[in-house]
Parts: sequence; structure tokens; C-alpha cells
Amino acid sequence: MAREGGLDAQVRARLWDGPVRIVHWSLVLLIAFSWGAAEFDQMQLHRISGYLVIGLLVFRIVWGLWGSRTARFGSFVKGPGRTLAYLKTLPNRSPTDVPGHNPLGAWSVVAILLVLLVQVATGLFAVDVDAFEAGPLSDRVSFETGRAIAELHETSFAVLQALVVLHVAAVLYYLIWKRSNLIGPMITGRRRFAADPGLTFAPWWRVVATAVLAAAVAWILSKGLRL
Ligand code: HEM
Ligand code: HEM
Repeated sequence: MAREGGLDAQVRARLWDGPVRIVHWSLVLLIAFSWGAAEFDQMQLHRISGYLVIGLLVFRIVWGLWGSRTARFGSFVKGPGRTLAYLKTLPNRSPTDVPGHNPLGAWSVVAILLVLLVQVATGLFAVDVDAFEAGPLSDRVSFETGRAIAELHETSFAVLQALVVLHVAAVLYYLIWKRSNLIGPMITGRRRFAADPGLTFAPWWRVVATAVLAAAVAWILSKGLRL
């Protein structure tokens, strides 16, 4: 009996669209790269990779509003009642058949995206101790404010690291305890279900429109809002 996706999973259907998967794995690579670049004092590379993260983040947020069903915040963010009810089922070894993020995972997605937003926003205003390295909007604030924002940039990175550790631990918990492989679908986009969930996917023109918007926002911010 196939265990992937759990239950008596028989139907293999599409779950995540291309944009969600590309954004996910690009974020993983670019966040790691941004970290490494900062550690090795490669601040120009750090900023460039940061602008790419801004583009991906804007894309993902807009995609959460008008993208495919499983990408929409409105379809996966649930209230405290549903989230608590799901939390109670967490120790069960039986995998869930939710076609998308489960109510608990949804909150971790929201938390990661919000902290990333703080990460890039603070980066834009941050300035280092000798005012040698700075984000493109740092001249809009005083040196002291830029320094305080740089501290926040550092703190938010610690929070982001903690969230990512928790995120990967949750994915491993599903893999080992619930015998449910969530990683495969995040790569291939497909998963087995007990019955076809009948998901709908956004058309390609929306991908292009969202990508153009995201690229424009990242570009303008990289220029310090000077066109
Ligand atoms: C910097 C590191 C990471 C960040 C910022 C991150 C962020 C995210 C976000 C925002 C989502 C939601 C996807 C969406 O709806 O667009 C997600 C989902 C997911 N991520 Fe990550 N992730 C990271 C690392 C990883 C790693 C290393 C793995 C593999 C072990 C992983 C596996 C997954 C899986 C399987 C899902 C789908 C979960 C589900 O089925 O609900 N992530 N991640
Ligand atoms: C994925 C997004 C980002 C991550 C993970 C990240 C992470 C970091 C880390 C770990 C540091 C070193 C902090 C320290 O130990 O002093 C740093 C410094 C810095 N980052 Fe980012 N950053 C990101 C995005 C950005 C963006 C978009 C900008 C602006 C374009 C930016 C500008 C800066 C600046 C100017 C510093 C130096 C601040 C200082 O020396 O105190 N970062 N970043």
C-alpha cells in the first residue's frame, strides 16, 4: 500500500504549482548565500542576493492573493479553533490528507514570510559601524537610526534561523513519525491522495504579471527609490 501522502493514497495529483516550488528552493539557496556573503564581508553580493530575496518575497505575497489555490493565504490560513483542532491530531501517526498546508504549518509559513519581510526591510536601512556598508535607503535615516536598524537586522536573522530550524524539524517529524514525505511534493509538485482533491491552478499570464511586478519592486528598492 502506498504510504506517500498517507491514507490509502491512490490518486497522484498536482499539489504545488511551479512558482511556489521555484520560490521555495530559491529562497533556501539565497538566504544561505546572503548569510555566507555577510559572514565573508562580501556586502555587494549580500545586497544583490538580498534584492533577489525581495523579488521572491513580493512574488510570494502577491501570489498568496491571486495565485493557485494551494498558494493562497485565504485557502490555508485558518482561525485558532481549526488550528487547535489540528494541533490535537499532531501526535497521531496517521498522515493527514490536507491538500496543501495544514492549519499549523500555515502559521509557520506566515511567520517565516513576515520575519523575512522584516529581514529585508531592515537591511534596506541598515548601516555598519564605520558607515562603510549600507542599504540603499540608509541615507533616509540618521546614522544612529541606521545602526539601530542594523541591530534589528541581526536580531531578525536569529529569529529567522530559529524558525527555519523549527520548519525543517517539522518536515522531518512528518517524514519519520507520520511517515509522510512532504519534501517530494515540494520538488515535483505532485502527491498521492485518497481521492482527487480537484485543485485549480492559476494561468501562466498571472505568473508573468506577478513576476514583472516583483522584479519592478526589487529594482526600485535596489535604486533607493530613485528612478
Ligand atoms: C532558508 C530555509 C527555508 C525557508 C525560508 C523555507 C520557507 C518555506 C516557506 C515560506 C514555505 C511555504 C511554501 C509556500 O506556500 O510558498 C515552505 C514550505 C515547505 N518547505 Fe521550506 N523553507 C526553508 C527550508 C526548507 C528545507 C531545508 C526543507 C527540506 C527539508 C524544506 C521543506 C519544505 C516543505 C516540504 C514545505 C511544504 C510543507 C507542506 O507540505 O505544508 N524547507 N518553506
Ligand atoms: C535574505 C535576506 C537577508 C539576510 C538573511 C541577511 C542577513 C544578514 C546578516 C547575518 C548580517 C550580519 C549581521 C552582523 O553580524 O553584523 C547582515 C548585515 C547586513 N545586511 Fe543583511 N541580510 C539580508 C538582506 C539584506 C538586504 C536586502 C540588505 C540591503 C540591501 C542588507 C544589508 C545589510 C547591511 C548593510 C549589513 C551590515 C550591517 C552591519 O554591519 O551591522 N541585508 N545581513
